[in-house]
Amino acid sequence: MNRDKIYLDLYTQVGALVDPNADDVANMANVVQLLATTLGHHWTGFYRVVKKELHLGPFAGPLACTRIAYGKGVCGKAWDTQHTQVVANVHKFEGHIACSSSTQSEIVVPCIRNGKVFAVLDIDSDALDTFDDIDARYLEDIVSLL
Ligand code: SME
Repeated sequence: MNRDKIYLDLYTQVGALVDPNADDVANMANVVQLLATTLGHHWTGFYRVVKKELHLGPFAGPLACTRIAYGKGVCGKAWDTQHTQVVANVHKFEGHIACSSSTQSEIVVPCIRNGKVFAVLDIDSDALDTFDDIDARYLEDIVSLL
């Protein structure tokens, strides 16, 4: 299956899965499982904005750091800039927070509601240069369903 078809199917599935009467954690838990099993990357998870930090939310993959300060790491940059961060080689990203030594590349997508970032979606790959602008666009569409 090509990438467009995979993401378009994911968009449809997430649209059906997200329950407007459930809280964010419940919906994120299902979205993470769907993305992780479909895309098969090393780590897939959400960090939620809690006061002035990002706190670990639902995820699939190895244990991860619990809290990230504002602006720190790839996740903090996505929060600060409100823009998706595509990192081809995490070893070349100044300030990258290494939760797992096998991560080589990653994408972090801000989840925005009423103009404010309320969470970020972080997907880590154990290969270099895994993600590009096409992944960014589709994942931004998918998280907009939350
Ligand atoms: N690498 C991220 C931290 C989260 S873990 O990868 C799960 C960062 O630099 O923000």
